[in-house]
Order: sequence, then structure tokens, then C-alpha cells
Amino acid sequence: MQGSIYTSFSEMVIENMGMSVWNELLSVVKPPSEGVYTKAMQYDDSEIMAFISALSTMTKIEASVLVRDFGEYLFIHLYHNSPASLSHVDNLQDFLFCIDDVIHKEVKRIYPKAYLPTFEFTKADNGDVVMFYQSKRKLCYLCEGLITGAAKHFNQLVTIAHPECMHHGADKCKLVISFEE
Ligand code: HEM
Ligand SMILES: [Zn+2]
Repeated sequence: MQGSIYTSFSEMVIENMGMSVWNELLSVVKPPSEGVYTKAMQYDDSEIMAFISALSTMTKIEASVLVRDFGEYLFIHLYHNSPASLSHVDNLQDFLFCIDDVIHKEVKRIYPKAYLPTFEFTKADNGDVVMFYQSKRKLCYLCEGLITGAAKHFNQLVTIAHPECMHHGADKCKLVISFEE
């Protein structure tokens, strides 16, 4: 996983929980990187997974909740450092539709070692956006948080349902995004 994701993760822990929690996390997880990350480099996925599971044990907050909160925190950091120009995108739906083909495509061009998730979209008759997410990392809760972060950025109110999930045996996660007027 890209160093920029790790940098944001450590910033979130330090900002929201304090330096002592981050230090404790490092002493429990003992990551090969020693917790020092360079944005443009790749680090083993097992580090982030180990942080989440140790933080969940330490705080007694469920891992899915921690990952969702992290996604929401992460969004604005990714957005402001996006390698693709996003100035023409002014709403959540258009933004979601361009993650795969514009944003993540550009990320992959710049960082060929990045492994990016794939998305498929359909639009329900009632206007809901149905998003299928697939990745070896199964970070569907990160998706939920990123979408919530993006919705806040565009000042839109959404609810996200997650009726099918890779953590419960599905081959893809199905996220149904309902827009509130
Ligand atoms: C400007 C916006 C965005 C940028 C610049 C961006 C960039 C990135 C980067 C650099 C990674 C790490 C890839 C790697 O290290 O292999 C990543 C991963 C990821 N991105 Fe985005 N992203 C953006 C928005 C979003 C949004 C809105 C979603 C939600 C649907 C999303 C979903 C994900 C997920 C779930 C991952 C984790 C990797 C995985 O699932 O396998 N991204 N993104
Ligand atoms: Zn899922």
C-alpha cells in the first residue's frame, strides 16, 4: 500500500488519539518500516492490517468502524493530493464515476507498483447509485468512509447500504448509495 495512505493513517491516530497511542501501536505491531513512511513508496499491506487489528484491541472499537473512520479522514488528504485534475467535478455521483477511469488510472500511471481496486457502477430506477467494489484487500469499509468524506466535501447527504460483502462470502461488495434531497 502506498506510503501516502500510511502517512495519513499515522496522522489520524496522532491527531485523534494522541502520540502516546501511536507509540504504543508501534511497540505492539513492530512494523518493518518502524512507522516511518515516504509518500511515494510502497509498504507491505500487512502493516496497515496489523495496525488496524492492534488499534481495535487497544481501543475496543470494532475494526470495521476504525477503517470507516479512517476512510473519511483519508478522503480530503487524497483529494488535495490528487494527481488527476478534479476541478471540473462538482458532485458526488460524477466524482465516483471518475475514480476508476481518471483518478486511480492516473495513480497507477505514476506509481506502477500501486494495486488499485476495481469498481462497477449501475444506477437504480429510484436514483440510487449501486457500486460494486472488488480488491484483494477487502477494504470495503474504507470505501464507505471515503464516499462519506467525498459526500461531505460536495455538501451532499447520502446513506450507504452494504447488502453484499466479501467479508461474508460474496465475490464483490455491493454498496448502495442513496442521495437525500
Ligand atoms: C482524489 C481522490 C482519490 C485519490 C487520489 C486516490 C488514490 C488512491 C491511492 C494512492 C491508493 C493506494 C493504492 C496502493 O497503494 O496500492 C488508493 C487506494 C484505494 N482507493 Fe483511492 N483515491 C481517491 C479516491 C477514492 C475514493 C472516493 C474511493 C471510494 C470509493 C477510493 C477507494 C480506494 C480504496 C478502497 C483503496 C484501497 C485499496 C484497495 O481497496 O485495494 N479512492 N487510492
Ligand atoms: Zn464489504
